[in-house]
Amino acid sequence: MNVLIFGAKGYLGSLFASLYPHALTPSVDIADAASVAQILDQEKPDIVINCAGKTGRPNVDWCETHREETLRSNVTGPLVLLQECGSRGIYWVHIGSGCIYEGEGGSRGYTEEDPPNFTGSFYSRTKLWSDQILREFPVLNLRIRMPFDGSLSGRNLLTKLRGYSRVLDVRNSLTYLPDFLRAASSLMERRITGTFNVVNEGAISPYEVMQLFAEIVDPTHAFERLTLEDLSSVVSAGRSNCILSAGKLKREGIEMQPVRQALTEAMNMMKSLL
Ligand SMILES: NC(=O)c1ccc[n+]([C@@H]2O[C@H](COP(=O)([O-])OP(=O)(O)OC[C@H]3O[C@@H](n4cnc5c(N)ncnc54)[C@H](OP(=O)(O)O)[C@@H]3O)[C@@H](O)[C@H]2O)c1
Repeated sequence: MNVLIFGAKGYLGSLFASLYPHALTPSVDIADAASVAQILDQEKPDIVINCAGKTGRPNVDWCETHREETLRSNVTGPLVLLQECGSRGIYWVHIGSGCIYEGEGGSRGYTEEDPPNFTGSFYSRTKLWSDQILREFPVLNLRIRMPFDGSLSGRNLLTKLRGYSRVLDVRNSLTYLPDFLRAASSLMERRITGTFNVVNEGAISPYEVMQLFAEIVDPTHAFERLTLEDLSSVVSAGRSNCILSAGKLKREGIEMQPVRQALTEAMNMMKSLL
């Protein structure tokens, strides 16, 4: 299988690159239609995985003040891929986000059919715009939330939370990346298209995550509880907090392990690296 990954140097892209060690990983601007067309004609991939996007450094607040770059990577780029992969009949996969919802979505969590309801940051709006366009076309759009793994990467949710002195106590869906990669490859092998929430079973607040971290990794780790009301004093753009349903994924026969179990696995791995 000839796999081509855009954004392969990033957090998600490098994980896909280790999953497909023979994948092509060109350094091409996905918003540049001529360059994308050229690489697709040259390499003739069976699958394109789009992990390119602007998430902001050190965080999504960056996107508020870098709107053109964010729009180009998060909206124009996916539209170029839609055109260039679509016209060549190439199956392609996009990494979307669940940060386009706010709230618990009733007792079951938000499903792929629920209209997005979070527009509090420019980053989220760009993810929402591309999500809503892609759903009209035969693309596999994988929505993830607060991704984590057992690595020491600065992009890992656990590493990020470890660096905060105050941590938010609002329940969220989370995505354990080894489970995500298994789910993604299962859907890709079957060339399934459509939008899927790819989150672990259950929900947990970042504060509860750090309580578990103190139990498993570092009992000396100190942090305080941050409420939703306090959050606006430490960030400039709004942050989505939401619970998503992974029921559609389950109906495809793909189970995501319970989130506390996944966190325990990741934290034990992290502990062995520290
Ligand atoms: N990490 C999260 O919390 C999270 C959560 C939900 C969804 N996602 C989505 O997952 C995708 C990947 O995120 P990530 O965490 O892996 O981000 P990342 O580590 O910042 O990686 C993204 C990569 O894409 C590259 N890139 C940006 N714009 C590009 C363009 N126009 N053409 C080609 N490459 C471009 C970036 O290069 P530069 O560094 O040079 O810009 C970077 O190497 C994004 O679409 C993001 O919205 C991430």
